[in-house]
Amino acid sequence: MAKNPAPTTAPRKVARDAGLPVRGETAELVLSKKLPKSTGAVIIAIFAGEDDTIELAGSTTLDSIFSDKQQAQILRQLEAVGATAKRNEITRVPGIEGVTSVIAVGLGKAEELDDETLRRATGSAARSLRGVEVAATTIGDLGLAAAVTGFGLGSYSFKGLRRETGEPESPAPSIHFLGGDKSEFVTAQVITESVIFARDLVNTPSSHLYPESYAVIAANEAAKHNLDVEILDEKQLEAAGYGGILAVGNGSSRKPRLLRLTWKGKKSAKSVALVGKGITFDTGGISLKPGANMDNMISDMGGSAAMIASIIAAARLNLRINVTATIPMAENMPSGDAFRPGDVITHYGGITSEILNTDAEGRLILADAIVRACEDNPDYLIDAATLTGAQLVALGIRTAGVMGTAEFRDRVALTGREVGEQAWAMPLPEELDEEITSPVADLRNVTNSRFAGMSAAGRYLQEFVADGVEWAHVDIAGPAYNTAGAYGYTPKRATGAPVRTFVELLSELAD
Ligand code: BES
Ligand code: MN
Ligand code: ZN
Repeated sequence: MAKNPAPTTAPRKVARDAGLPVRGETAELVLSKKLPKSTGAVIIAIFAGEDDTIELAGSTTLDSIFSDKQQAQILRQLEAVGATAKRNEITRVPGIEGVTSVIAVGLGKAEELDDETLRRATGSAARSLRGVEVAATTIGDLGLAAAVTGFGLGSYSFKGLRRETGEPESPAPSIHFLGGDKSEFVTAQVITESVIFARDLVNTPSSHLYPESYAVIAANEAAKHNLDVEILDEKQLEAAGYGGILAVGNGSSRKPRLLRLTWKGKKSAKSVALVGKGITFDTGGISLKPGANMDNMISDMGGSAAMIASIIAAARLNLRINVTATIPMAENMPSGDAFRPGDVITHYGGITSEILNTDAEGRLILADAIVRACEDNPDYLIDAATLTGAQLVALGIRTAGVMGTAEFRDRVALTGREVGEQAWAMPLPEELDEEITSPVADLRNVTNSRFAGMSAAGRYLQEFVADGVEWAHVDIAGPAYNTAGAYGYTPKRATGAPVRTFVELLSELAD
């Protein structure tokens, strides 16, 4: 007799050793000395030359696989099918000697090549590998870390809880990088896996990822990599006075949590506090959101996923820096136990907020977490949150807004652009000071104005950051979740942004 299928809603009891119900699939990345025997496709790079000509990106690795004559033949075939070598163009031609096909990846003009071009083009190549089981590539010669990142992230696909159809599914390929520095390869691989962990967390639906299960899943993954973990449940939150997390989380029967992860890299090193918004689903609460596209709000824990993945990466890379992650987790639901507009809540540490809109919930849980994070006297504090629709209005779907103390804010935004996670510095203008005041509490959680909604949220959070801490607030409402089409190495749904920005920053701040 066929076994009953699992219930459509995950069981509410969370096993102590719980992990993610499903992971996305990605290509296996291998550093190889020579061409594997069973290579189905060799992936090479082509550049656009003068007068609409194309040229193969030559290298010693390419020479070790194909003779000059064979390279000339590949070039002729590519010209014959009209390859132009424009960026992200993928052209497949018949292979030579046991290799089924040659896949040429366009990189544009050689003199304009940069890492992001390489990442996007290799990402596009990875997405075109259907049917190939074993691929080998020479593109690592142009930038091994960028190629590993592009192929690794571009090959990601998340099939969620879809049943096996019985139709033969092409397994994710293995991609062999022919030569290169082992430690550069491994570092790029760890960072890629961290981005993918963040994507998996964000892609997991709220039926399966809710505060209690999220905290356990993240804690288990962190413990595997030697981080210290602590989870506060709703009773402990109550006892300690976490009024923001409790107000938001209490409307749901799935009660809130506060997760704390600690990585001790070195005694005397700099310390960085990471804080991330972990709203496992945002209905808006009593200030209910409209129904259209509300399902996208499974991604409202994107900031927390990025921070959890980043601190785990710091541990895996053994960075000589001290990092804590303070992650408030709550589900924002309307119910008889939900908080209301007009309520006044008392945050961890004592600051009070008048609630004028229960849909401005992210800043309320972040406020508690920021105060807790500052108790450890960090040198730097970074928070990431899918915080405002206003971020999308101001900067579009791909560019994060970065606010905070001037120097560090600019540094975080610049680092984002350097790793290909678009980010832009935004101000906290002084006229917002009076807009966040309330007659009945220290602060109000929304302003009366239609203007500068992203900055208003940042300005509110600023009230909770301790003096002297270098602070950056990163609003990733758009960048965390791609509701448009896949491009380069960025798939639909969860993007894993801005994990690479934060890992790069932690690496640079480490000694
Ligand atoms: N999670 C949303 C912000 C959001 C919107 C993220 C769209 C991703 C895509 C946040 O909690 C929210 O609802 N913000 C409100 C704030 C407003 C009530 C001041 C918003 O932006 O509308
Ligand atoms: Mn909201
Ligand atoms: Zn939200």
